[in-house]
Amino acid sequence: MMRHLLADDDLTPDEQAEVLDLAAAMKADPFGHRPLEGPRTVAMVFDRPTLRTQVSFSAGIAELGGHPMTVDGGLAGMGERESVEDVARVLGRQAAAVVWRTAHQADLVLMAEHSGIPVVNALTDEFHPCQLLADLQTVREHVGALSGTRVAFVGDGACNMGNSWVLAGATAGMHVVVGAPDGYEPDADVVARAREIAGRTGGSVTLERDPVAAVTGAAVVVTDTWVSMGREEQRADRLRLFTPYALTGELLAHADTGAIVMHCLPAYRGTEIDAAVIDGPRSVVWDEAENRRHAQKAILAWLLERA
Ligand code: NVA
Repeated sequence: MMRHLLADDDLTPDEQAEVLDLAAAMKADPFGHRPLEGPRTVAMVFDRPTLRTQVSFSAGIAELGGHPMTVDGGLAGMGERESVEDVARVLGRQAAAVVWRTAHQADLVLMAEHSGIPVVNALTDEFHPCQLLADLQTVREHVGALSGTRVAFVGDGACNMGNSWVLAGATAGMHVVVGAPDGYEPDADVVARAREIAGRTGGSVTLERDPVAAVTGAAVVVTDTWVSMGREEQRADRLRLFTPYALTGELLAHADTGAIVMHCLPAYRGTEIDAAVIDGPRSVVWDEAENRRHAQKAILAWLLERA
C-alpha cells in the first residue's frame, strides 16, 4: 500500500524507530543509499517561505541520487489556477514523490489521494513531521533513548510544532509537557490521538499553564516562534500573551542539569528565546537543522520502498 507522511502518527512506533535508525545510518554514510538513482525527480512545492526545508531536501535528494525539482506554488497557482487534484495528477506523472509546504492539511490529503506517488508534509498549519523526525534524531544523539525522556514545549502550543511534538513524542514513548497559555494548547483532537498512542508506548501528554512547572525535570526544552506563518496579524496580542513563556536562562534553570535546548528556526532572539540560550552551550539547534537532511532522506527512502 502506498504510504505518505502527512502527520507524525502516519508512522507507528516501530516504523518511526526504523526511520530514525535509517536516518542515523544515512548520516554515517551520506552517499551509500541511492534509491533515486536515475536520477528520478522529487517535486518540492512551496506555497510558503522556506530556508531549511528547501536546502535540506535539495541536498538530501541529490545525495540519494535524485533530482530535486522546486515548484513555486505561487507561480503554479496551487488550488487557484488549477485544482489541487489536477496538480497532483500532473506531478504524479513527472516525479517519484512530492514534498509540499502549504497551509491546509486537507489540501495535503487531496494531494496524497490523487498523485499516485508518496507525499511528504513539509509543513502545514497543523503539522511539521519532517522537523520532528530531525528533532527526535537530535534527541537520540544528545540524550540517548527517546522512551521515557521528558520534553517540555513552551510557548505557542497551538502551532504546527506543538501538535507535532505531542504526536511524535507520544509515538516515541516520551513524556511530552506543553507549557502554553489558555487557548493556545495543541489541538484537542491531536492531544486525544497522542494520548491514545501514549497508552501503548508508555509515554504521556501533559498540558501545563505554568511555564516553570512545564520545564521542571525536562531533559529537552523546546520552543518555536510565537508568530507562525499565516498568523502575522495577531503579532501584538501574541507577544503580550506569550511573554511569561520566553525561554530565558532563568526558565531553563528549572530544567534538568544538562538539558538540551531545541528550536526549529527561524528564531527571534529576545522574543521567544534569549540569545544567551539559543547561542549557549545547551543549544542543539544547528544539529537539528543539519539532521533535517538525514531524517528527510530516510523518510523519502522508506516511503519509496513501499511505493
Ligand atoms: N511554527 C513555525 C514553524 C516554522 C518552521 C511556523 O509555522 O511558521
